[in-house]
Amino acid sequence: MRIGIVGGTGDIGEGMALRLSTRYDVIIGSREEEKAKTASTTCRLRLDELGKVCSLSGVSNQRAVDEADIVVLALPYKHLVPTIASLTGFEGKIVISPVNPMEFGETVSYVPPPEGSAGLLLKKLLPESARIVVAFNNIAAHRWQTIGEDLDYSVAVCSDDEEAKKIVMDLINTISHLAALDAGPLKNAALVESLTPLILNISKYNRMKDVGVYFR
Ligand SMILES: NC(=O)c1ccc[n+]([C@@H]2O[C@H](COP(=O)([O-])OP(=O)(O)OC[C@H]3O[C@@H](n4cnc5c(N)ncnc54)[C@H](OP(=O)(O)O)[C@@H]3O)[C@@H](O)[C@H]2O)c1
Repeated sequence: MRIGIVGGTGDIGEGMALRLSTRYDVIIGSREEEKAKTASTTCRLRLDELGKVCSLSGVSNQRAVDEADIVVLALPYKHLVPTIASLTGFEGKIVISPVNPMEFGETVSYVPPPEGSAGLLLKKLLPESARIVVAFNNIAAHRWQTIGEDLDYSVAVCSDDEEAKKIVMDLINTISHLAALDAGPLKNAALVESLTPLILNISKYNRMKDVGVYFR
């Protein structure tokens, strides 16, 4: 399975690339191909040191979309609309959104668009045949990047496409100790996205590190 990461040079993108590339073909995308190649080399060296074999490449965001079966949009919310407008070829692809619309002030707030969530905004922006799945919203990037440690969290997954949701849930269940949970249709995306500002506020007010969600 080929997984393209748009914005794959960022915190969550690189972390996901590290974890996923030992099992899947990971294509790191960037606005600058050279930056993506550097990120790909950095990830490869880190995995080499651990004796792990990986499949990684670094390309433009457009090529990451074109060459992937599954596209992860690892972009800050404020760059989502212009980036989607600049890219083509999402038709029929599974598109994963870990995007959380948030504002950082005295506290961290969930600030969704008028559509209700980043997931529902994507439904408006992407071609009708794109198979949008909201997932990976609530795990901190540095936990992804600490590859020597297990990832032991629940991952809530929303989608209107049951088959795509199942494919992504199966993928999640292959990563470390992550446990995928069906969180319903895309209209529930706001519930999943808004957990992240809650997590960040709990971290801040309780001086806790590595706050995450495990439903049981
Ligand atoms: N960080 C976390 O712990 C975490 C956890 C869960 C979910 N998320 C969600 O994941 C998404 C990505 O978060 P992140 O922390 O990884 O973001 P980030 O590191 O700040 O940025 C990711 C990438 O976005 C690209 N980018 C920056 N400015 C841009 C622009 N003007 N136009 C287009 N692309 C631009 C950059 O790639 P290039 O310069 O290479 O193009 C950058 O590497 C967010 O929506 C966040 O809510 C983050």
